[in-house]
Amino acid sequence: MPSPGKMKIVVSKDGPYMVYGGIPLSLMIIEPNKEGLSWDWKEAKDFPVKEEYSLCRCGQSKNKPYCDSSHLRAKFDGTETATRRPFVRQAEVFDGATMTLSDAEELCAFARFCDPGGKIWGLMDQTVDPEVRKLAIREAAHCSSGRLVLHDKKTGETFEPRLPSSIGVVEDPALGCSGPLWVRGRIHIESADGTPYEARNRVTLCRCGASSNKPFCNGSHASIRFRDGLVEFVRLK
Ligand code: SF4
Ligand code: FES
Repeated sequence: MPSPGKMKIVVSKDGPYMVYGGIPLSLMIIEPNKEGLSWDWKEAKDFPVKEEYSLCRCGQSKNKPYCDSSHLRAKFDGTETATRRPFVRQAEVFDGATMTLSDAEELCAFARFCDPGGKIWGLMDQTVDPEVRKLAIREAAHCSSGRLVLHDKKTGETFEPRLPSSIGVVEDPALGCSGPLWVRGRIHIESADGTPYEARNRVTLCRCGASSNKPFCNGSHASIRFRDGLVEFVRLK
């Protein structure tokens, strides 16, 4: 079994993510509902567990999700531009009827779990209704990037899903593209300059190379229609 204390991801300068501590890696598919809106996560496959491995960050590897040194040929500029401020100092707070919503928009990975049943921001005033409250909690908990975090106004409780320490390689068939690396369970992430990012329960790391908020995903994989070749997008238009 991997030892959580040793798990670490290091962002290498203009190169891959170096993964240490035997972090489990799996393929995670965004499953749409009948209306075609993001509704659930499906774990499609586990990659073999390795103590150390490197994951492509430039989007150019022929052996995705792993690095094959294509970043050298591509002269990848992986400059980290994301703020080092903790989430609470990045997020805007929306006041709702029974809960508050903390929202750091620049972290959005465009997985769209905040859409079904009404966008989460529109639900906030209606959370006295238990069904609406349940839906809002579900939407925030499914947000892979950790952009959205809900808190109960009365108890101060934060609604965080239980996520084992692991990395998900995201695929988004409804959109016809591959997504970021979904890093779960407070894994330590270290910048190429040696400073740590805040360890959070859920964050998404860019693996298409196009984010302007590196190392984090900002949804650019959707606009460039990034594809890793690991799944066939049968529902492609
Ligand atoms: S990453 Fe979070 S905030 Fe962005 S679209 Fe998905 S659920 Fe919404
Ligand atoms: S993987 Fe989302 S912006 Fe690169």
